[in-house]
Amino acid sequence: MTTFTEETRERAREIIARYPADRSRSALLPLLHLVQSEEGYVSPAGVEFCAEVLGLNKAQVGAVATFYTMYKRKPTGDYLVSVCTNTMCNVLGGQEVYDTLAEHLGVGHDETTADGKITLEHAECLAACDYGPVMTVNYDFFDNVDPQGALGVVEELRAGGRPMPTRGARLCTLKEMAVQLAGFADERDGAVADGGPGEPTLRGLRLAEQHGISVPGFDPNTPIRSKAEADRAAAEAKARAEAAKPAPAAEPAKPAAATGSTAPDVKAPDDKSPQVRTAETRQPDAGTAVADAPGTKVPTDTTAPAPRDAQAAESAGAAANPPAGDGKPAGDEAGAQQRNLKEAEAGAGANGAGPAVASETGVQK
Ligand code: FES
Repeated sequence: MTTFTEETRERAREIIARYPADRSRSALLPLLHLVQSEEGYVSPAGVEFCAEVLGLNKAQVGAVATFYTMYKRKPTGDYLVSVCTNTMCNVLGGQEVYDTLAEHLGVGHDETTADGKITLEHAECLAACDYGPVMTVNYDFFDNVDPQGALGVVEELRAGGRPMPTRGARLCTLKEMAVQLAGFADERDGAVADGGPGEPTLRGLRLAEQHGISVPGFDPNTPIRSKAEADRAAAEAKARAEAAKPAPAAEPAKPAAATGSTAPDVKAPDDKSPQVRTAETRQPDAGTAVADAPGTKVPTDTTAPAPRDAQAAESAGAAANPPAGDGKPAGDEAGAQQRNLKEAEAGAGANGAGPAVASETGVQK
């Protein structure tokens, strides 16, 4: 079992100190990155370490560690190559990139090459759809990759090189990246990148400028309300809403009691219109403006609404696209019966007599 170094323990104390004393369990996510920075994955020893320093049990730590894909559950290569195969990247060729790498490296999803250098995984959206297809190496981006470009990157990594990502800082190993993810700065020269967003990211802004589209200005100095102020404002809004509610409708007169009668207790007939009943059923408390509520008007236009375009289109589509599943076109059952009947009649005609005649003449086919 791993014994974590004193440096790691010191860093763990530093991470925990970032959080209020009674909220130390919030340090769990960076701590999991920290143990991953030492072992390359979150081992059972790493889980135990986190539980120990945070006063949690191992099940609590394990539940978090197994939820997020960035926490690896088995030893990982120096370089984690993640290829996005989600929708946008996929239609742009992401799956071809992944398949090419998998075949070339001889590994599948979440597997590591025999030399321990590269772990390959397919990833869901890497939040860079405007640069698709994308892949990351230890979470640094390679944009607009194609199969040949991706092969070049992994071959350079295997040869000991560190290719420059399209955006961001220099590549580092997965363990080095885990230190950063735990919240510690990378001190290497060139480790921190700067620069603005790329042109694909700005495309929407350019179009808005081109077409004169703007949004109301945002004032970053708008004061944020305290909880007490927010509660007061909510209470005032609720009171205003209550005051604006229409007065309840007068109770309808109750039918006279059937004194001494043995007849079953029959409810008074409900003379409300179906429109009113439907509204009350759907929103019993909403004070819906209904036809017989005081101060409301009964709609005079009782013409049935014309079918909307969408409904018409759906009907037309359903007619033109019979249900799939059995491979038969709609109405095939009736069509088949008619065809069978015609074939039977034709066959009987070719034999010189229909079925009834054949029966009369005693000819059996
Ligand atoms: S679909 Fe690939 S980055 Fe979003």
